[in-house]
Amino acid sequence: MRLLVCGGAGFIGSNFVRVRARDHGDDVVVLDKLTYAGRRENLQDVEHEFVHGAIEDPAVVTAAMEGVDAVVNFAAETHVDRSIAEPDAFVTTHALGTYVLLETARARRVRYVQVSTDEVYGSIEEGSFTESSPLAPSSPYSATKAGADLLVGSYHHTYGLETLICRGSNNYGPYQYPEKLIPLMVLNALHGDRLPVYGDGMNVRNWLYVEDFARGIGHVLEHGVPGEVYNVGGPDETTNLDVVRSIIEYVGASEELIEFVTDRPGHDRRYSLGSEKVRALGWEAQVRFAEGLRRTVDWYRDNAWWWEPIRSGDYRAYYERQYGRALG
Ligand SMILES: NC(=O)c1ccc[n+]([C@@H]2O[C@H](COP(=O)([O-])OP(=O)(O)OC[C@H]3O[C@@H](n4cnc5c(N)ncnc54)[C@H](O)[C@@H]3O)[C@@H](O)[C@H]2O)c1
Repeated sequence: MRLLVCGGAGFIGSNFVRVRARDHGDDVVVLDKLTYAGRRENLQDVEHEFVHGAIEDPAVVTAAMEGVDAVVNFAAETHVDRSIAEPDAFVTTHALGTYVLLETARARRVRYVQVSTDEVYGSIEEGSFTESSPLAPSSPYSATKAGADLLVGSYHHTYGLETLICRGSNNYGPYQYPEKLIPLMVLNALHGDRLPVYGDGMNVRNWLYVEDFARGIGHVLEHGVPGEVYNVGGPDETTNLDVVRSIIEYVGASEELIEFVTDRPGHDRRYSLGSEKVRALGWEAQVRFAEGLRRTVDWYRDNAWWWEPIRSGDYRAYYERQYGRALG
């Protein structure tokens, strides 16, 4: 299959490209704007064609979609904290960018998969969200992702485009930019830097190893029913504080590095996804959290070439703005 993977130079996109090229022999064209989170290095070991451009640019998208069998869209701004500080890029990429991709896919009658998030459902105290739970996003990030999902659904309903939506729970694994909880804590713990935990650390997330999500998206691409939404949740739920404690234990760092910091405004308390529908298609998560976390810590420990340029670059200034203290 020839695939156009938008946002394929980011964390989940690059893992998806690796899984598809390696295990399925797909020809992959990656279209990516290379924001701070998108890096060519993420794909240096995978055969692919690369187009540098934005999904909101119709000329670039039209050329990139030439001759492909399907489009999978990962392209997004993905950090909730950044969406609170500077929401404009979130609106451009999620609303306008998704619209341009859908229009081009409609003109070419190409199957279209939108990668989305459990955050569109908002927070849940007990139980798990299903695909028919109402959308109740809380941040500019999740609200613009929810808007994109609704637009995708409308292209199936109105124009008969073969669309699919995959909503994943919190991913972790290799190649994740260190602003996100797990790589932030792993790298800080390895360096003996303070470990900034929001609020009381009792926010619960449903952790999904990135290769499991990548396989799930591929499964929906191949076997999903057009017009449908599929939740892809991880096998384990953990509080942020327990995640940090597990990292400390595995790295051999000190619990005294933990520092409770002012909570994120509007911080969702708990996310949880039921994945029965995608399981019925034949997908199962293969990596439990304890095992995935060990693999992730090992990867960061063994791949300083990947994170050293990030930790010594613009990320330092971002970190200082966000946490009011410098990285060591
Ligand atoms: N990380 C998670 O835990 C998680 C969970 C569920 C769903 N998702 C979704 O999965 C997708 C990928 O997330 P990620 O964590 O890999 O993000 P990421 O930030 O690591 O990567 C996003 C990629 O999109 C590219 N990009 C951004 N704006 C673009 C634009 N306008 N045009 C072209 N490329 C653009 C970036 O350069 C980058 O390569 C997102 O849609 C996100 O909402 C993420």
